[in-house]
Amino acid sequence: MDDATLRIGDQELSLPTLEGTMGERAVDISALRKETSYTTFDRGFGNTAETKSSITFINGEGGILRHRGYAIEDLATKASFLEVAYLLIEGELPTVTQLATFEAAIHENANLPEDLKHLFDAFPHEAHPMAVLASGISTFGAYYPEAADPLDDLAVDRATQLLIAKMPTMVAWAFKYRERRPYIYPRYDLDYAANFLHMVFSRPHRHLEVSPQVQRAMNMLLVLHADHEQNCSASTVRIVGSSHASIFASMSAGIHALSGPLHGGANQAVLEMLQAMSDAGGDVETYIAKAKDKDDPFRLMGFGHRVYKNFDPRSRILKGAVDDVLSILGKDDPLLRLAVELEEAALDDDYFVERKLFPNVDFYSGIIYRAMGFPVDMFTSLFALGRMPGWIAQWREMHSDPTTRIGRPRQVYTGETDRPFTPIADR
Ligand code: ACO
Repeated sequence: MDDATLRIGDQELSLPTLEGTMGERAVDISALRKETSYTTFDRGFGNTAETKSSITFINGEGGILRHRGYAIEDLATKASFLEVAYLLIEGELPTVTQLATFEAAIHENANLPEDLKHLFDAFPHEAHPMAVLASGISTFGAYYPEAADPLDDLAVDRATQLLIAKMPTMVAWAFKYRERRPYIYPRYDLDYAANFLHMVFSRPHRHLEVSPQVQRAMNMLLVLHADHEQNCSASTVRIVGSSHASIFASMSAGIHALSGPLHGGANQAVLEMLQAMSDAGGDVETYIAKAKDKDDPFRLMGFGHRVYKNFDPRSRILKGAVDDVLSILGKDDPLLRLAVELEEAALDDDYFVERKLFPNVDFYSGIIYRAMGFPVDMFTSLFALGRMPGWIAQWREMHSDPTTRIGRPRQVYTGETDRPFTPIADR
């Protein structure tokens, strides 16, 4: 590919370009500051590729999402979550033997150390599960110091297994603590999705029989959240890891980044928005008008995406699954009817059409979680459970790339210039 030419004043600079395997092109500005003293200015990194990556491909205009070249539509309906986790981390779909070995390691490590139960006790029962989860994962560095060295490949493999294996137990136990109910231990005869549902919904005296359809729906939800390239939480994970902080510290930071309502926290915010709309009489137009009003900070939660300027393929899959799941569970959710009405109204409105604002993954996931019986403030921790393999894959890719440098953006300083110091008595 041809170099790009940049002219600033009378200085001309030739900048190399690069092209990805799907034709994405970039101008390499690494030498810009050294050669010209200029930096680039790009709020929210909307135009900045910080890394090359071979994990996930998104075409936002086409509504395409692929992991390691495999379409999300295939993975969501044909693969188990652990198969997808293996694919993201190792780069290839596992063989039967590879998957069996991986599953055995995950089963073997699913339990939490007994001492760790006391961590939950330190939190108020009403604590948001994302706060408990982020703290819980950061304690892993203390419980498993042998797995915390980011520069030791065997330690990283061990940490990978620990994180994927223990995350469902952490999420389920955070839920049990919140509900003031006894913890339910993992079962080794169940697959990842079914075991998670068992730990959330079984009681010591009443074990949940997970129906195959609900197990499939849970598996699909986990797969749909497994990775999404350089989003806010994945970039956080990479930037924290780039300082050679442990993988556990990096994952804890990723959980915190995900908790925000503009990111993973949107699944909770969508349900709360739909509930508020329903309580106020279900007037969709009022909310559309509020979302369009630039003097009102309200945004239509579950709409819009930095990358997708078309239907988010994950929300398309979920929309198709909602009716099935609700009919299996024998539920008719008035909030689903409201969601459909809201989606139709927004897709028909010039404001949303012109800005290419479509429903994202969070718009429909909450309806399914709710039908399954999860409380609303647990939704974002379900997202975190699904996203763990993606964060791990991103962290490992960053570490294995010899060109990685510590993440350290520049700024354009706009504060005071040079001021003489005034002693406090004279101010
Ligand atoms: N409701 C109303 N207007 C919106 C919305 C929305 N949900 N999203 C974007 N817009 C408007 C913006 O106000 C802006 O309008 P303008 O051009 O007149 O100023 C325009 O659309 C472009 O939006 P940006 O804010 O520039 O988009 P950005 O890429 O920075 O933000 C984001 C993306 C954060 C997802 C945004 O669309 C949003 O806040 N959506 C609601 C929260 C949400 O659903 N988040 C989940 C995202 S998916 C995920 O993380 C899993």
